[in-house]
Amino acid sequence: MDIDHWRALLPLPEELPGYLAVARGIRGMAMDGRLGAGARLPSERTLALALGVSRTTITRAYGELVASGWARARQGSGTTVILPTGERAPSFPLIPGLRTDAIDLSAAAGLAPSGTAAIIRGALEWLPSTLNSAGYEPFGAPHLRRRIADWYGGRGLATDPDQIVVTAGAMTAVSVAMHSLLGPGERIVVDSPTYPGALGAIEAVRARAVSVPLVTGWDVAGWEEALRRSKAGAAYLIPDFHNPTGLLMPGGQRVELAGLLARHDCVPIIDETLVELNLSGLHLPAPFAVADGRAITIGSLSKVLWGGIRIGWLRCPPARLDAVRTRALQLGLGASALDQLVATSYFEEAAPVREEVVGRLARARDTWLAELADRLPEWRVRPPDGGLALWVELPRRASSELALAASTRHLLLTPGPRFSADRTQTNRLRLPLTLPPDVIGEAVARLAAAWDDVVSGVRVAVGRDAVAL
Ligand SMILES: Cc1ncc(COP(=O)(O)O)c(C=O)c1O
Repeated sequence: MDIDHWRALLPLPEELPGYLAVARGIRGMAMDGRLGAGARLPSERTLALALGVSRTTITRAYGELVASGWARARQGSGTTVILPTGERAPSFPLIPGLRTDAIDLSAAAGLAPSGTAAIIRGALEWLPSTLNSAGYEPFGAPHLRRRIADWYGGRGLATDPDQIVVTAGAMTAVSVAMHSLLGPGERIVVDSPTYPGALGAIEAVRARAVSVPLVTGWDVAGWEEALRRSKAGAAYLIPDFHNPTGLLMPGGQRVELAGLLARHDCVPIIDETLVELNLSGLHLPAPFAVADGRAITIGSLSKVLWGGIRIGWLRCPPARLDAVRTRALQLGLGASALDQLVATSYFEEAAPVREEVVGRLARARDTWLAELADRLPEWRVRPPDGGLALWVELPRRASSELALAASTRHLLLTPGPRFSADRTQTNRLRLPLTLPPDVIGEAVARLAAAWDDVVSGVRVAVGRDAVAL
């Protein structure tokens, strides 16, 4: 981690003495895995210079970390992070249902809508002809690729079915795109925050993510600066109901950003996984690829239908098709034939399913907002027009501590830094709209109790030890 990162990660809140603020900041990073066990902290002099504080402040901060069991100081090898349990940092899974004793807010994935069984029955009618084949369609069955191409056509983006490569969910599509555009050490520009799965895919190809902050909208000047400095060959964007902020990129900005990316010879990966989750009935701008024909666009049925149907896809410009198909083949042999039949069956009559899903998410959004306003009025949240989540602003940089306190109260959270390549977003929390409305009241009650724990600095258990928040 370079020194600019440390500066971004350790803003010093005024309400704490400097040394304590530094110690708590570092401990928060160790708690949520941003600093692994054994990570070496910068020298006292370097960190003091980076943060603009005295060297004594850092000496005391490191002393505090050593005394509380979060760091070890060795002559000659500096100060390194240790975890009090001697085990791994507590992990915050993004896969729902891993812990059944808790309300799980760590993933944004909903239950299947009521029409799903009928869609599956519809698909089974076509099964006999599929069984009469080998069952492998590594780039997608023609019946489904045609439906997807028509869906793009209906949105103003003329598409040939041959441009579509079907995958087992959008996450696989993201990986295929990253593998086809990036190699080790190469750079890709992303928003901060962004979808953690994309950050994982970037890590898997050992490329480097360069973050541009996304607060109330896309900062085109910030993107220009990042592109100029990084010379990145690829960018990852979620313009349609961005995960986790729910933001929608206006049409004019799509054209501006597309022009900018083209001038910098940077290929956009456009993730449209959430495009159908239009909770406020907004008029949607044309797909990003209308403004930039070089874009690789990703789609999925996981959010508008159900995550259990593992169907996603890439829409490729013809010039990239061979490379993308090759990567897709290297990473797997395509989506299940049965799931592809279900996906085609969904496209036969998508509107009622979409309306049910969108109605459910909009009701959950309104319930969350009312409950939060009631019990946690000091938390700030902009009502999202679409997507799967609320992106809450906490009054303190304590997202990781909150996740830890919540877990002892049987509530699973994903701390804000998980949504950021530069591990900022320490004052942010994502709350999923996929939680059934009748559970939201209880979830907010537990959130409020956990927040009280953080504010009052209680001790919570980490493995065999107890730490003060
Ligand atoms: C932006 C984005 N891309 C991709 C995915 C992964 O979707 P899938 O379940 O289709 O793999 C998600 C899931 O939350 C997402 O939010």
